[in-house]
Amino acid sequence: MNLAMQSRIPLRSGRAMPVLGLGTWQLTKDTAGTVVEALRLGYRLIDTSGDYGTQPAVGDAIRASEVPREEIFFVTKVEEDEDAHAAAHRNVEEAGLEVADLILIHRPPRRGDGIDLWEGLLQARDEGLARDVGVSNYSTEQIDALADATGELPVVNQIEWSPFGWSPEMLDYCRARRIVIQAYSPLTRSRRMRDPVLERIGAAHRKTPAQVVLRWCLQLGVVPLPKANRHEHLVENADVFGFELSASELEEIGGLNEHYSSLGSSLAYA
Ligand SMILES: NC(=O)c1ccc[n+]([C@@H]2O[C@H](COP(=O)([O-])OP(=O)(O)OC[C@H]3O[C@@H](n4cnc5c(N)ncnc54)[C@H](OP(=O)(O)O)[C@@H]3O)[C@@H](O)[C@H]2O)c1
Repeated sequence: MNLAMQSRIPLRSGRAMPVLGLGTWQLTKDTAGTVVEALRLGYRLIDTSGDYGTQPAVGDAIRASEVPREEIFFVTKVEEDEDAHAAAHRNVEEAGLEVADLILIHRPPRRGDGIDLWEGLLQARDEGLARDVGVSNYSTEQIDALADATGELPVVNQIEWSPFGWSPEMLDYCRARRIVIQAYSPLTRSRRMRDPVLERIGAAHRKTPAQVVLRWCLQLGVVPLPKANRHEHLVENADVFGFELSASELEEIGGLNEHYSSLGSSLAYA
């Protein structure tokens, strides 16, 4: 698998997305400076949301960076209780950008599947506010409902995804429809990084457990979005392209699955 930091994964829209991103939830220590540094280190996908509080600083960093805007993939989200079209406008404006590369429905609403939200995002895309649109925390049934109602599938489903909590069924479903999975909380918010299996496999490659997890995502075709305030973490998480996990290592890492969630009691989408 010949992946590099600048590799891109094709989207069903015909566009392409970087294979690794930077998460910015709670990236509150000098957000703009950290994002500028991440861009300097080679990160090209930055994930934020209208409700993270980091969106204005992410926009500042994108505008301040020496990396051309067209090389940067800016992802943001609208909330399930908002008017999606209006929120898409607000988000792009708040970031001080002309267009988002991807806007997601942050989570399905409490009732229904969010058809109105999806229609609002499709309108925002058609008006040029977003190059692509997708969902987050959606189950396969909820994605089916959006497609049935509008004839349009999301290009991405952003979901919680780590070796301890993932879904082979979701992976198969998304692969069959060319929907790319973005992995949030891939490092389990640091809670499961002392796992002996990850440590053993990491030692064999001279890599850390976090690097093993990120590489496992990459080799599944899943785009991880690790968040890192600390510079050494930013550097470590980008250094996942010079080694390859074997088929048996991939299987062993995937076998750690216990539907674990570092956010709540269970995975939101499964
Ligand atoms: N769509 C959604 O509903 C949703 C939900 C949650 C998250 N997200 C997105 O996904 C991103 C990532 O998820 P997350 O922030 O929840 O969790 P995460 O990326 O799994 O974990 C972040 C934590 O891991 C630490 N860390 C980073 N690199 C490390 C390394 N190499 N070794 C050990 N620890 C390391 C960070 O420390 P330092 O910061 O101190 O470096 C931070 O405490 C978010 O920032 C957000 O953009 C989306």
